[in-house]
Amino acid sequence: MVPMIDLQKQFADIKEEILDMVTEILESAHYILGPKVTLFENKVAAYHNVAEAIGVASGTDALHLAIKALGIGKDDEVITTPFTFFATAEAVIYTGAAPVFVDIDPETMNIDPAQIEAKITKHTKAILPVHVFGHPADMDAVTAIAKKHGLHVIEDCAQSFGAEIRGRKTGSFGDAGCFSFYPSKNLGAFGDGGLVTLNDISLADRIRVLRNHGSKGAYKHETVGFNSRLDELQAGILLVKFKKIDEYNMKRRANAVLYDRYISGKVTKPVEKPGMTHVYHQYTLRSKQRNKIQSALKENGISSVVYYPVPLHLQEALSFLGHGKGSFPVAEQAAEEVLSLPMYPELQDNTIREIAEIINNA
Ligand SMILES: Cc1ncc(COP(=O)(O)O)c(C=O)c1O
Repeated sequence: MVPMIDLQKQFADIKEEILDMVTEILESAHYILGPKVTLFENKVAAYHNVAEAIGVASGTDALHLAIKALGIGKDDEVITTPFTFFATAEAVIYTGAAPVFVDIDPETMNIDPAQIEAKITKHTKAILPVHVFGHPADMDAVTAIAKKHGLHVIEDCAQSFGAEIRGRKTGSFGDAGCFSFYPSKNLGAFGDGGLVTLNDISLADRIRVLRNHGSKGAYKHETVGFNSRLDELQAGILLVKFKKIDEYNMKRRANAVLYDRYISGKVTKPVEKPGMTHVYHQYTLRSKQRNKIQSALKENGISSVVYYPVPLHLQEALSFLGHGKGSFPVAEQAAEEVLSLPMYPELQDNTIREIAEIINNA
């Protein structure tokens, strides 16, 4: 079976370095908030050209703590996309605020900036775009709207580590950039992990306090926080993989070029808008024949996944928001048509060719 991502192959390539790193950390007996976390934070901040990076326990927590630290909570609204992983909305709801959905751009499947202003109310506090599948959202438009209306911007960068707009990294445009190191992400840990990038030092301080039981240390607690730290072992593993992230992303981009070249059937291929650098966390096709294509791939031993079959506004858990079918038609249509193909740096030319042929024949 051709997998969606081959983490065994990736591990085999860096096994020695990883095992050395893990051994070093285990021998140091410093397992929580130690030097590897600090080093990783510093390297990721520099990579994004931002003042601060804060390691946390997951991408979901990165969003939750950033939204909370911005003072957003009960009776507030956060504008976001319905075409994302569930955690984007969950994090908003954890704070007591409500997610307000805006339909998506049919090409990039990111939030459609042209529809944002109509959803702004006196309760709106922030816009939360998601760089879905690794293609940057239109941050020029989003930040302009936010500025005009005095709103915060929180970027969901879970799928976009390394993606750029005119050479500037996603996660450096808003008040906070929220990353996930879930193992299958472009930069993945060997467990859960997350991180917030930002420039505002006092906001960074608040997030550092929130991730560690509301404390700056010494058993003094200025607020009720959480246990949400990136652990030292994951930070060490991420330090090893971080050295290769640009190479990994370049290989993903090269594989996308091959898919683009070999797929000739009547399907819509992913776009890369001018000025944008897509990091292809997913290579996602669209077709009215999606289910037929997926069956043909399965019969031939090729994995594929529908990200996402149910947009958030139609999720049972969010029925209290009162949306129904037809509320966000572009997102609903995407959910009917999308199909993500195997995508990872180690994917081979001949495998891509084989996958493309199956799609073309279907
Ligand atoms: C768009 C998006 N947001 C948030 C998350 C949550 O990240 P995590 O699984 O690290 O909590 C994910 C991934 O899982 C994601 O894809």
